[in-house]
Amino acid sequence: MAFGFIKQKLVHQHELALYRRTKCVESQNAREVKIDGRTYLNFSSNDYLGLNNHADINKAMQEGADKFGTCASASSLITGYHYAHQSLENDICTWLNKPKCLLFSSGFAANQGVLDALGEKNTHYWLDKLSHASLIDGAFASEARTKRFLHNDMLQLDTLLSSSSDKDNIIVSEGVFSMDGDQANLRSISELATKHKALTYIDDAHSIGVKGISGEGSLSQAPLDMVMATFGKAIATSGAFVVCNNDIYEYLVNFSRHYIYSTAMSPAVAWATKASIKLAQKEHWRREKIIELSHLLSTELNDDIELIKTESSIHAIVLGSADKTLNTSEKLKEDGIWVTAIRPPTVANNSSRLRVTITASHNAKDIKHLANSINKAYF
Ligand SMILES: Cc1ncc(COP(=O)(O)O)c(C=O)c1O
Repeated sequence: MAFGFIKQKLVHQHELALYRRTKCVESQNAREVKIDGRTYLNFSSNDYLGLNNHADINKAMQEGADKFGTCASASSLITGYHYAHQSLENDICTWLNKPKCLLFSSGFAANQGVLDALGEKNTHYWLDKLSHASLIDGAFASEARTKRFLHNDMLQLDTLLSSSSDKDNIIVSEGVFSMDGDQANLRSISELATKHKALTYIDDAHSIGVKGISGEGSLSQAPLDMVMATFGKAIATSGAFVVCNNDIYEYLVNFSRHYIYSTAMSPAVAWATKASIKLAQKEHWRREKIIELSHLLSTELNDDIELIKTESSIHAIVLGSADKTLNTSEKLKEDGIWVTAIRPPTVANNSSRLRVTITASHNAKDIKHLANSINKAYF
């Protein structure tokens, strides 16, 4: 039967406890989520700083819509590049102390657009094994050669780069890893790049706003050639940016197909993003709260529960099987807690996990309730 694979693969997903479905969210903030008429404590939000729905950002969104409209109405190179975009790019360049910034409509598009454009025949991408799907897809869709090194294994990366016969090497990693929450060794990556005359490309989706004194993310820790970050997590809007030097900027504007052939991000959203970045820069208490509550979680959980050690909002408890993870997630729901079960292919086989995200909107009581429920559900 034609297209028989559609039914077959869906049935198989069910059998493997890997079937996915969307859930309609009735309302949510960085602390609570209402689904199917019930309100849960939300530990699955990427609104790390708790900025979504902030009055200043909503006001800027309205103002941006009034000034520039909700839609860019063209790609950036036609007539889609508005003052709102230019002004946002300038703010980001100043914030991160980089000469150039360009905007994309999502982080996925940015990663694909950059890696595809820079992935010429002589390019060799060296990707951390735990790199996000958009980085993997971008690298493999390009003409470059791509090799993945063991997660955070700087010795292996050094050896691989020493043996590379390609002249244009690019090291790709995430600042904070999306499913483990641990950090790349950015200093070593930067030093290896200098040693091997390679470039660095860091995905800061989970670092921007959260790491650095003013939320500058990975650039607060090491000099890096290119950094990409989505606005869809701590910055609480949508779209993404890439910062880089002048030459790379000009090259991407001319050769990145996602940049050239896609409608620019909404100018109203760009205007709102300016307001959001301003808050992220100055409201240090949001970052401090994440650190304080993360520490509390690690002290409240039973000693035999393995929590991946991190200094971010993301805290993974690896349970192994997809079944066990789903069951634990269901048990937490009975206690009014929402933690989504993360299963393959998002993570490797037998490493299904609860991915707990702690935001600036949680409080100590929430964390104690969460730890208590996990301690109970774990057995
Ligand atoms: C590490 C990482 N990179 C890129 C993306 C994609 O960003 P966006 O949601 O803006 O497409 C995500 C998540 O969604 C991510 O976790």
